[in-house]
Amino acid sequence: MSSKAWGGRFTKPPDKMVEGFTSSLSFDRRLYRQDIQGSVAHARMLGRQGIITEAEAQTLVEGLEKVLAEIEAGTFPFRIEHEDIHLNIEKRLTELVGPTGGKLHTARSRNDQVSTDMHLYFKEQIDEVVVLVRGLQGAILAQAEEHLGSDAGGSFGPTIMPGYTHLQRAQPILLSHHLMAYFFMFERDAGRLLDCRKRTDLSPLGAGALAGTTFPIDRAFTAGELGFSAPYPNSIDAVSDRDYLIEFLSAASLIMMHLSRLCEELVMWSGTEFAFVEMDDAFATGSSIMPQKKNPDVAELVRGKTGRVYGSLIGLLTVLKGLPLAYHTDLQEDKERTFDALDTLKRCLEVTAGMVATMRFRRERLTQAVRQDFSNATDLADYLAKKGLPFREAHEVAGKVVLHCINTGRYLADLPLPELREFSPLIGDDIFEAISPERCVADRRSLGGTSPERVAEQIALAKKLLGA
Ligand code: ARG
Repeated sequence: MSSKAWGGRFTKPPDKMVEGFTSSLSFDRRLYRQDIQGSVAHARMLGRQGIITEAEAQTLVEGLEKVLAEIEAGTFPFRIEHEDIHLNIEKRLTELVGPTGGKLHTARSRNDQVSTDMHLYFKEQIDEVVVLVRGLQGAILAQAEEHLGSDAGGSFGPTIMPGYTHLQRAQPILLSHHLMAYFFMFERDAGRLLDCRKRTDLSPLGAGALAGTTFPIDRAFTAGELGFSAPYPNSIDAVSDRDYLIEFLSAASLIMMHLSRLCEELVMWSGTEFAFVEMDDAFATGSSIMPQKKNPDVAELVRGKTGRVYGSLIGLLTVLKGLPLAYHTDLQEDKERTFDALDTLKRCLEVTAGMVATMRFRRERLTQAVRQDFSNATDLADYLAKKGLPFREAHEVAGKVVLHCINTGRYLADLPLPELREFSPLIGDDIFEAISPERCVADRRSLGGTSPERVAEQIALAKKLLGA
């Protein structure tokens, strides 16, 4: 027999360059466990269906277990001339159990085999990614809870900061409120992953090369053995579908986008101009020339790695674009980029969770910032509107007060009452309380708003979601 699995039709071996070019072993060897799992299910099915004898099936299963043990012990002889992980395992199996090993590939093709491996692998990996997303959500939640203040210890109230629009100070908000926005972004991400998992949970095994097989196989049995919810209904679709990987990469891209937004804020906030947050020493690095530097490299690198994951998504969409049915070797290009995106995503989630858990917000800076800005101008307008002035007029009056303050180098709370009353006789001495940051925040009690009760509700919901 020829040394190539497909050698019969050939009169000479492939050029060395071609062998290296077509081989996927360097990256698909990570699928070894799923490949063996799929082969064991397939061998059992062949035995049950009488396609091979039960004794032969048993020989194959035991041989596959030996191969698994060899790979895990690091003694398995990986050989590039056998192209990919599937053929490497099959060749070794035959060395270990003899010619019976050659029966494993009955009623199967590498096309349904590789697809089965990838479905099994990504089902597991999606679960792992969800756990990492949950971990990051937990870290965000812990910071949000801490900065809601403790009524138990009574040591301090909620941390107030300026909220931004257009990167201009807009309205006072609770730091916890801001952090919880990220919690809910990552909650949608977990939902998207779980949704994509549903479509990953189908078994391609038994689709054969594309058309099914002449052998009396039982696809429901192998699907059940492998823990899939069902077999793909169409064998051609089963071997050509890479949608689940594109969905995974889309979900991964959204997560990276969210991480990148969070990291961008943390980079800004740890700069001297903001100085709202300080990274733990273990999650920052220094400069080789400037001794004073403490750089938020972790956040910068996560922000930077976002492009890799987007690239994988666009790359795979492009591989699939215009690809006719059914299997083409183009599809082998699904792996490297998807694995790279997966590995990148997992590391970014882990390291961001660690950074978020250990970073320290500078409460005094945040509180001071909100006292030295005009983020309470809306509250002056609201105050006048509540006293009966139409909101548009109230807005105009408050705008004039702000301009007056800017011209005289003061903030709203610095103006004495008589000076304020020159802008509107509706202003009374209750104005100072009304525009204090604490009141600005406490009064925004609308659903989802920034008042401590509303943020506490968001935190309670988040705990329920994480508990579930
Ligand atoms: N290494 C291949 C891949 O990753 C396995 C399937 C090969 N099938 C084939 N007909 N060449 O897609």
